[in-house]
Amino acid sequence: MADKPTLTTSAGAPYVSNDTSKTAGPRGPVMLEDYQLIEKLAHQNRERIPERVVHAKGWGAQGTFTVTHDITKYTCAKVFSEIGKTTEVLSRWSTVAGEQGAADAERDVRGFSLKFYTEDGNWDMVGNNTPIFFVRDAYKFPDFIRTQKRHPKTNLRSPEAMFDFWAAQPESVHQVTILMSDRGIPVNPMHMNGYGSHTFSMWNANGERHWVKFHFKTQQGHKHYINSEAERLIGKTRESYQEDLFNAIEEGNFPKWTLYIQVMPEKEAETCGFNPFDLTKVWPHGQYPLVEVGELEMNRNVENYFQYIENAAYSPSNVVPGIGFSPDKMLQARVFSYADAHRYRLGTHYEALPANEAKNAKVNHYHKDGPMRFFTNDFGNPDAYYEPNQYDGPVANPTVAEPPLEIDGDMQRYKQETADEDFVQPRALFELFDDGQKQRLFDNMAAAMGPCSDSVMERWFAVLGRVHPDYEAGVRAAVKKASDVNAVPVTDDSPIEAAE
Ligand code: NDP
Ligand code: HEM
Repeated sequence: MADKPTLTTSAGAPYVSNDTSKTAGPRGPVMLEDYQLIEKLAHQNRERIPERVVHAKGWGAQGTFTVTHDITKYTCAKVFSEIGKTTEVLSRWSTVAGEQGAADAERDVRGFSLKFYTEDGNWDMVGNNTPIFFVRDAYKFPDFIRTQKRHPKTNLRSPEAMFDFWAAQPESVHQVTILMSDRGIPVNPMHMNGYGSHTFSMWNANGERHWVKFHFKTQQGHKHYINSEAERLIGKTRESYQEDLFNAIEEGNFPKWTLYIQVMPEKEAETCGFNPFDLTKVWPHGQYPLVEVGELEMNRNVENYFQYIENAAYSPSNVVPGIGFSPDKMLQARVFSYADAHRYRLGTHYEALPANEAKNAKVNHYHKDGPMRFFTNDFGNPDAYYEPNQYDGPVANPTVAEPPLEIDGDMQRYKQETADEDFVQPRALFELFDDGQKQRLFDNMAAAMGPCSDSVMERWFAVLGRVHPDYEAGVRAAVKKASDVNAVPVTDDSPIEAAE
């Protein structure tokens, strides 16, 4: 007792007891004045915050990024300033569609978020384990997410909605192919790549801009589950990613990724032969080879999951001098959406929380009051609470301006219709697969489409046919095979296997 700290209220007053209510007599009712009990129950009622509207289930760690190759000819960002330079990083990986209690080993795209605590503020790389996305205009994002979440009446996930939507947005077939391929269920976050997916920009000390793509390649190798393995695993544990990641780091097996960039000179965007700002397309490696940059090693489990991983607020709007956006329409929308989500999910001053504070940069802003105002920001003088002021409060620094970007054309809504070009890259990916990979793709897609109506199936088959006739034929055959198997009646006496 003597060497243990005293338990207190959150106002610091010592507790008399933490297990016995104060009552009127030994069998009497509880006294309202037992404030310690009221506080304890009230705090429990407030332990949850809204889960992320997407990417609710996640796993993360702390670690370090080290520069191994010089890219200062492309960027003046301090995080890349010299070989050997290290920067602290907070990672969070996630599934997209499932809620916070979802099983880890579900077929889904995985989020791949990194927060780099640089001396010029936090740089967030909020990517996925796929280099592309389902849609290329933000108008379509909320509808896409509706199709991934629960149906309003059945409260169940709806394959009919998913494939109905994808069939109407055929540019999604590239991402759907990756999702239904072997890479749709990585065994854990250590065995997958991460991609910035969008095109970003970098500018160097001379003010020259290049367009770039970020690729974090796993050094652990790709490993995936097939559907039946994942189903068996989920029957045993729903937390396989958390277990694998946490234990690997506890045991000193620190996962690593190599960062590469693809680089395109600014003006080449007009002549490269494709729209480099279209999120449904990659930049072919043959045309834009990978340039090695550095190594990411995640080597510390956080002391408190909620404090660091649930409270983590990643946003593509968090860029630093030397790294910028591109005209990608989806990226532009994300620049708005994430900080807005954080202000709702976490509160006004969410960037003052330990996970999000700029650990290696001095934060000076004139935002004032609201939840989580942990800071003074009077800059040593309470009169300096607006800008401009005569009290030497912080001022903007024009030397960090990014170079001007030339824009042309009329302002209007430019619809990008699905064109033959949208099927070239999915075709290249399909042709990359060996026979085994193709068959698993067919089977996985057939399993996912199983409950869909004929009209949705036919519309989706037509999309697959535009990618490759073998793709359409393979999935048609797999759907037929699966429906023949399902046509065998299952009785109460049938063993479980009969239904599989
Ligand atoms: P390459 O042959 O140079 O690259 C093929 C890429 O495909 C490799 O990066 C490989 O990843 C990746 N890959 C292999 N299997 C899968 C899978 N199941 N799901 C997703 N990616 C996979 O050719 P190109 O650069 O010309 O690209 C051809 C096609 O490959 C593209 O149309 C695109 O679909 C896909 N791809 C291209 C990427 C790019 O940035 N160029 C990145 C990822 C995919 P790894 O190196 O890790 O084995
Ligand atoms: C999470 C919006 C596209 C990757 C989120 C969140 C929102 C959102 C609101 C929840 C944020 C939070 O509460 O913390 C959007 C919109 C998109 C879009 C509006 C398109 C217009 C994308 C794309 C990628 C992506 C293209 C990947 C390239 C992620 C990741 C997370 C996330 C990884 C989880 C971040 C974390 O770990 O906390 N998105 N998103 N999103 N999104 Fe998106």
